Amino acid sequence: MTAIAGSSQAAVQASHSSSAADWTPTSWRSRPALQMPVYPDAALLAGAEARLRRYPPLVFAGEARKLKSALAKVANGEAFLLQGGDCAESFVDFTANNIRDTFRVLLQMAVVLTYGAGVPVVKVGRMAGQFAKPRSSNVEKVGDVELPSYRGDNVNGFEFSAEARRPDPERMVQAYNQSAATLNLLRAFAQGGYADLHEVNRWNLDFVRNSPASERYHDLAARLDETLNFMAACGLTSATTPQIAETDFFTSHEALLLQYEEALTRVDSTSGDWYDCSAHMVWIGDRTRQPDGAHVEFMRGVRNPLGFKAGPSLSTDDLLRLIDTLNPTDEAGRIVIIARMGADKVADKLPPLVRAVKRAGRSVVWSCDPMHGNTVTAANGRKTRHFDAILSEVKDFFAVHRAEGTHPGGVHFEMTGQEVTECVGGAVDITVDGLGERYETQCDPRLNASQALELAFLLAEQLKAERLSVARSRITA
Ligand code: PEP
Ligand code: CO
Repeated sequence: MTAIAGSSQAAVQASHSSSAADWTPTSWRSRPALQMPVYPDAALLAGAEARLRRYPPLVFAGEARKLKSALAKVANGEAFLLQGGDCAESFVDFTANNIRDTFRVLLQMAVVLTYGAGVPVVKVGRMAGQFAKPRSSNVEKVGDVELPSYRGDNVNGFEFSAEARRPDPERMVQAYNQSAATLNLLRAFAQGGYADLHEVNRWNLDFVRNSPASERYHDLAARLDETLNFMAACGLTSATTPQIAETDFFTSHEALLLQYEEALTRVDSTSGDWYDCSAHMVWIGDRTRQPDGAHVEFMRGVRNPLGFKAGPSLSTDDLLRLIDTLNPTDEAGRIVIIARMGADKVADKLPPLVRAVKRAGRSVVWSCDPMHGNTVTAANGRKTRHFDAILSEVKDFFAVHRAEGTHPGGVHFEMTGQEVTECVGGAVDITVDGLGERYETQCDPRLNASQALELAFLLAEQLKAERLSVARSRITA
């Protein structure tokens, strides 16, 4: 891909007919933009944007197309999507070990889910760009002091001081550099031998051996191990089979900070189309999905696979409008609808949306984010999520799709490779009192490594049971 900068980009766009009508990378600027910082110094902002526009793209458009093809398979029921990572990446937690451990748990989960679903698992990290955060309030008050809310490390600082909370455009450049280094390591891990299936299997066996729920997960782990041994006996090893030695891993984040996204949006010289080269996939959050808003305007013009969050307030009219605006040609793999209803609402709120999309005959991936509708404040004031509520939302999500005859395409988790104590429950049974031990998130509570993997085992059981029941009904039909 050739990154074409500045005015020559506009020339290419003007001469290219497949771009969305009346769209340019800057057309979002004339629409109402929610959840965006107000930068106090326009000249500093312009300088940071200009630098970012000159910097190399972080991903290649061909990779985004590859992810889109993989997601088209998910939409068709031939694959499953696993998307996960931090709520918000941070500058202070930027270490090789953190990147490695999140990547490792995602691989472990993917192997378990592949076994359960019996189809390939498409792996997408909330990594290498997941910085900007929407907030429920523009300000935070501590005692008598009121300051702008923290909006993610690419906007302002977490520390509660006027200086830290001032939006600083230089942070976009730092976020870009951190994303570039993160991606570099992820690519090396994915292709350089670290992701070898036999290694991942060994980590899973260790996890099961040490889990308090060892007995429950033992069968699945043993069968997986046996399958890999059988494959090796047949000559399918990492030396002979690249699919065993390496994996495809994609990146994604919420495209909230549009100045950053715009600056990394480039024309792909092989197709002449615009891509947001900050990540393979980008999504629109539940608070910024207004059909006439700036975020939807920006996203409709880039050709990456896109997601949008579907919370309980999303009407079927808006849902169909969003699909029409973002995917007018009904391209398979373009749209991932990330439902985040809450465990107590999903059974009521999801079916009308699923039916509307089915009736309209539109191709989408349905994914379940069981995190954002299940955030509660514990008695000690900590924000947390219950493992059982998370599991329950995913189970209900599967049940809705079973009833509607549609494909439950994937899951979307906030998780980390560290053994933090932010969500309660799980086999280790983190309690409300225990939350303080390692509560490290700057934003939402994440599943820790054990909880995330445990969830994958429980989902795999469920996926497998569903597969067997479908197969049985085919045989008896
Ligand atoms: C998120 O994914 O971190 C997020 C803010 O989600 P939502 O837009 O669904 O609230
Ligand atoms: Co979050």
